[in-house]
Amino acid sequence: MMKRCVLVTGGAGYIGSHTAVELVEAGYDVVLVDNLSNSDEQTIEGVRRITGIEIPFEQVDCCDREALEEVFKKYHFDAVIHFAASKAVYESIEKPLMYYRNNLGSLMTLLDLMRKYECANIVFSSSAVVYGDAEHLPVTEQSPRQAATSPYGNTKRMCEDILHDTIIAADGAMRAIALRYFNPFGAHPSALIGELPRGVPSNLVPYITQTAAGIRECLNIFGDDYDTPDGSCIRDYIDVVDLARAHVVAIGRMIEGRNKQNYEIFNVGTGRGVSVLELVQAFERVNNLKLNYRIAPRRAGDIIVSWADTTLANNELGWKATRTLDETLAAAWKWQQVLMSR
Ligand code: NAD
Ligand code: WQD
Repeated sequence: MMKRCVLVTGGAGYIGSHTAVELVEAGYDVVLVDNLSNSDEQTIEGVRRITGIEIPFEQVDCCDREALEEVFKKYHFDAVIHFAASKAVYESIEKPLMYYRNNLGSLMTLLDLMRKYECANIVFSSSAVVYGDAEHLPVTEQSPRQAATSPYGNTKRMCEDILHDTIIAADGAMRAIALRYFNPFGAHPSALIGELPRGVPSNLVPYITQTAAGIRECLNIFGDDYDTPDGSCIRDYIDVVDLARAHVVAIGRMIEGRNKQNYEIFNVGTGRGVSVLELVQAFERVNNLKLNYRIAPRRAGDIIVSWADTTLANNELGWKATRTLDETLAAAWKWQQVLMSR
């Protein structure tokens, strides 16, 4: 049977690169598109080393219709996974127009070209951020989306609506799956690819690994006086390889016509909540080190508790997270040590 070809936009990025590896290992041909605005070509070399395949890479901005159309002319895509976006919550508050232009513009340009070149299937990178501070836990796909607390969060909600309306208008000619990621973390076990945070990380796990590496002097734990068992915030941390595999399952679901609606949404998490203090203590134990941290004031806007109800992804999508917290924290530290040797 002819190999199916998947376009991975943002393919040089953290989740896109890990997904490219899983797609190749699942037998797909893959083409990476990225403008390298938040990544570099070393990641692409890492993907090529892991897979042993010279995966095609096109350095293109997805907002540049002419350039992206050249990619659609060059390859025949059976599906697209759209990772390309700007994703820093705090940066989006300072640069809202850049976020709206990039995140909405890249999706709309892509959808236009998918219609023109009759590529029917798209998986979209959404985020649990669309749920805001959910009233009921665990969060299901039916939990109401709430007004975003950042332009970034707004772009995710608006992109979901753009996608939904486009799929409805396509009247069966297109199918989409939006995957709402909870908190991705970790790195590929090979330590050839992983997260490449630029500047001071705002996310917990890269800040932990950089503190352990001595790059950061001390981890600030933003509050231990919340109404949780140990007083620190709780999240659903999903291993990046498990997350990548959810995309492979989603692509297969649509290409093989197993989707039940033309627009489907799935939460992608572990279904377990882990507190900041629990994660820090696990990191120290697994990696046999002492982390320098202190309790700092709460971070404004932080959600106190969030974790996913993964019933739909487990039962309907047929996907389940399998990697343990310990495995992922060991992989995260191994990756940080590779970065230090670069
Ligand atoms: P990332 O920044 O590592 O990857 C995004 C990639 O897209 C980068 O390589 C960047 O250079 C590229 N890119 C950005 N704008 C582009 C454009 N206009 N054209 C071409 N390439 C472009 O981020 P990530 O963590 O891998 O996130 C991937 C997707 O998942 C994003 O859409 C993000 O919003 C979403 N997401 C991420 C998280 C998370 O915590 N990492 C959580 C939920 C959702
Ligand atoms: C997790 C917990 C912090 C850093 C973010 C984005 C969201 C999504 C996932 C894209 C919180 C605590 C953190 C630190 C700390 N990305 N923390 N010290 O805020 O759940 O979500 O990433 O879609 O959009 O908002 O993740 O890693 O920033 O924080 O104590 O130095 O760790 O207070 O409780 P968050 P996070």
